[in-house]
Amino acid sequence: MYHWIKIFENQTEFKNYIQPNTFVVFELKNQKICVTRNANGFFAVQDKCPHNGASLSKGFCSDKNEIICPLHRYAFNLKDGKATSGGGFALKTYPIQIQSNGVFIGIKAKWWET
Ligand code: FES
Repeated sequence: MYHWIKIFENQTEFKNYIQPNTFVVFELKNQKICVTRNANGFFAVQDKCPHNGASLSKGFCSDKNEIICPLHRYAFNLKDGKATSGGGFALKTYPIQIQSNGVFIGIKAKWWET
């Protein structure tokens, strides 16, 4: 079960606010979430790099649909969060839904909230 949190009123607002291959961080339910868009779609991943804690939003997108950490250049697939540069790290990913009444990020509910 997810908590669906509205981040934009509509897709146009989303596209105007987040340019392709750039990142915006949202703090939702005490989680920093890095949101981006590119030719492959819309993506949301944890902002904190699992290697050593850098803010991934200060990194950049690759042409292989990855987010690259600014500190040590580890790469993570934006879709499933898995490290593509080795090391066995993975990012938490968040689903994005674009509905007629807004753009939402899904945050998994804790077991005690369900
Ligand atoms: S802190 Fe991100 S790769 Fe090291």
